[in-house]
Formats: sequence, structure tokens, C-alpha cells
Amino acid sequence: MHCCSNSESDKIDKFFSKKASSFLETFQKNGFEKSQRHLLAGLSKIPVESKTILEIGCGIGFLHRELVKRGASFATGVDISSEMIHFAEEIASSANLTGKTKYLTGDFTEIYAQIEPADVTVLDKVICCYHDLPDLLEKSAARTRSVYAFTLPREKWYNRTAIAVMSFFRTLTGANFHPFYHRHADIINILNKHHFTRLFQESTFIWESYVFMRNV
Ligand SMILES: C[S@@+](CC[C@H](N)C(=O)[O-])C[C@H]1O[C@@H](n2cnc3c(N)ncnc32)[C@H](O)[C@@H]1O
Repeated sequence: MHCCSNSESDKIDKFFSKKASSFLETFQKNGFEKSQRHLLAGLSKIPVESKTILEIGCGIGFLHRELVKRGASFATGVDISSEMIHFAEEIASSANLTGKTKYLTGDFTEIYAQIEPADVTVLDKVICCYHDLPDLLEKSAARTRSVYAFTLPREKWYNRTAIAVMSFFRTLTGANFHPFYHRHADIINILNKHHFTRLFQESTFIWESYVFMRNV
């Protein structure tokens, strides 16, 4: 299914679909980035065996497939980009993971109602791609039973400046997509409201990775 009925979703699809093959080449060459290794380290603090995974903005899907290899029972990957999902499905099939993975193309905030709640939800460098932070956070937290893990740009002046400059020039030139700088406190407040508390936090120069756990 391809569901991109609003223009923000269309912009994200156009931008990231062109990048799908380069995501694959980069991963084949370098493996997981440091921030992804942080996210996996944070997730290793909870037993992932037999857990279900929901990866929103899964790209070509290496993170959730790694969690399946570590014992998760099933993973659902969702991405606005049809090309990212196309690659993710092909890789899962060649890794004999078809029975343990499922893929949906669409904006999570539009298709969330048809997605089963998962034990563990992962958003790796996705929150900074999306304009409506409360909508994405509220709907994804509500679909998460136990663990909510994500990576986003650190709250540093250089990230704020880079995102502002990039957004200004991309808007000026009519480019189809630009990133967003979201305050971490706004995210943490929404997660706290859904009874998640912080279990893990680690950063690189650019990225901050968090793992939150639901305490009720
Ligand atoms: C920077 S890429 C990261 C991909 C992958 N998580 C990784 O780290 O390799 C962000 C991805 O999030 C997807 N995305 C952004 N907002 C989304 C939303 N609301 N629902 C589903 N996918 C979304 C984009 O299409 C893109 O593939």
C-alpha cells in the first residue's frame, strides 16, 4: 500500500526514495553507524527475545532485522518512502526473514490505526524528518507496549544552525524536503505522559540516542 495523501509525506517520499540505493551501499561498506551502535547498546539492556518490533521510518531496515537476528519474534517496518520499503523487502527475503518481517509503505501518522501495537518501537533519525512532532510521538507511543527507542540530532548550537541554514536554503530553492529541529524536552514530556521513563542515553558529536521504558 502506498499512502501519501498530504504534501509533507510526498516531499519525504520523493527525497528519501532517491536515497534508498545509497543507504544500502553505505551500510554494505560501513555497517552500523556509531549512533546506531548506541541505539543497539541501549536496546541490549532489555531482553529482546520473543519481543515484537515496530520500526517507524525504517529505511532499508537493518536495525529491526538485527533485532530479529538477536531473537525478536517479529518486526514491522514502516516508511513513507516506497523505494526504501522495496529495498527492505528484498533484503528481508534474501535473508530468509520473510516470515518474521512485514512492511508497510505510508506515513505512520496516517496508517497507525492498521498497525498492531509492538513491544519495542524504534525511530532512528526519523523524528527530525517530520514536521508534526506531537502527532508522530503521540500515535507511536500509543502503539508501544514496553520500550521506545530513538535517535535525533543533539541539542547543540551547531545542529540548530545547520538545520536552520539547510531549511532556509532548501525552502528558498523550492527543494522538496528539509529537516526539523525538535526540542528533546517536548519529546520527553510526551513520553512521560505515556508513562515511559529514560533507561539509556548516549551521544555522538551530532546524534543523541535514547531508550525509554514504560513503567506501568
Ligand atoms: C534519515 S532516514 C533514516 C532511515 C533509517 N531509520 C536509518 O537510520 O537508516 C528517515 C526515514 O524516515 C522516513 N519517515 C519520515 N517520517 C516518517 C513518517 N511519519 N512515517 C513513516 N516514515 C517516515 C523517511 O521516509 C526516511 O526513510
